[in-house]
Order: sequence, then C-alpha cells, then structure tokens
Amino acid sequence: MKNVAVLLGSLTEKSINKSLAKAIEKLAEGRLQFDYLDIGSLPHYNNDLWENPPASVTGLKHKVEAADAVLIVMPEINRSYPAVVKNALDWASRPYGKNSWTGKPLAIAGASPGAIGTAAGQNALRMTLPLYGFVVMGQPEVYFQFKPGLIDDNFQVTDDQSRGFLENFVDKYVEWIDHHGQRRELAEAAE
Ligand code: FNR
Repeated sequence: MKNVAVLLGSLTEKSINKSLAKAIEKLAEGRLQFDYLDIGSLPHYNNDLWENPPASVTGLKHKVEAADAVLIVMPEINRSYPAVVKNALDWASRPYGKNSWTGKPLAIAGASPGAIGTAAGQNALRMTLPLYGFVVMGQPEVYFQFKPGLIDDNFQVTDDQSRGFLENFVDKYVEWIDHHGQRRELAEAAE
C-alpha cells in the first residue's frame, strides 16, 4: 500500500474539496493510504523561524519525506490557488538544499461550483511545480464542477459518469506512483 500525503487547500469544515478528497480516498481504498497534512496550523513562511523551527514545520517535512506521493485537492481562489497550499509548499521546500518534495509523484484535483471547476487555479499552481521538484501527472485533469448531492455523506460519487471519471483518475495515479516511485527507489539505491 502506498502512502499519500494530501494537501487539502480548504480549511472550511464543510468543504466541497474535502468531500472530493474523501471520495477519491474511497475509490483508492486498498491501494493508497491518505495522510491529510495539517497545513492550516503552519505559521506564515518566515525564514527567521528556521533558527528554532516550529513542530508544525518539522512534522510537515517528516510526513512529506515518508510519503510515496503527494496529492493536492484544492479550490480556485480568485483565479489562483489557495495561500494555505503555497505556504505549505514553501515551508517543506526549505531549508535550501533540503527540499522535501524532490522527486515525489504528484497529482492535482479540484472542485468548484463554477463551470471551469478550478482550471485557472490549477494552471496557476502548475506553473510553480517544476521548482519544487515534483514529478507531476499531467493527465487526467480533474476540474470537478460540484453540484449538491454529487458526493453523498458517505463520500460515494452518486453520478455514474463522474464516478467512472474519478475511478480512471485513481487508476492512472496509482500507475504514476508505481512507475515514478520505483524510479526514485532505484535512484536512491544507486547512490
Ligand atoms: C471563491 N470561489 C471561486 N470559485 C471559482 O471557481 N473561481 C474562483 O476564482 C473563486 N474565487 C473565490 C475566492 C474566494 C475568496 C472565495 C471564498 C471563494 C468560490 C469557491 O469555489 C467556493 O466557495 C468553494 O466552495 C470553495 O471550496 P471549498 O472551500 O468548499 O472546498
């Protein structure tokens, strides 16, 4: 079973992106184990804090380093991506030379009530990802237009077409992790 560090880009209790993440988790049951990172308790990035780093920061880095892969599930905020995601990405990318994200297979998904379903936000995020060293899965893209009832209280996707689409996303993500995660292990063994 692969361990996935999840960055949920909404701190809202009844978040539609939390529902989407839980629905994906359910579809991946038995193949992927999700660990939701506590990114809401991180301080704003401040270089001075490395002198005595907060437990929230060192804990984040340990969890990322232990993970086989990363999944970002997030809303679109004013046509960009959430500050809470950016803050977490920046913290675990430092100190310089000790970037915890390097080589991690990454997939992205997002939900919005709007028709473009976070496409603009994900585009803004994707522009930054090479710098963090992720191995980014390009397809399938998940721009999930959320409608009430589409994901029920047990995190089942109620619409066949949407469920099939997410099942395919999970299958491709598992393949992506198997392929690129293994390459990372081989690279580490060769060092
Ligand atoms: C939004 N929302 C939004 N939606 C969208 O599709 N594109 C956008 O650019 C924005 N911008 C935006 C800014 C701010 C400050 C807020 C509060 C909201 C609407 C957003 O998609 C909606 O509130 C979702 O429910 C947020 O996701 P969670 O928190 O429910 O997961």
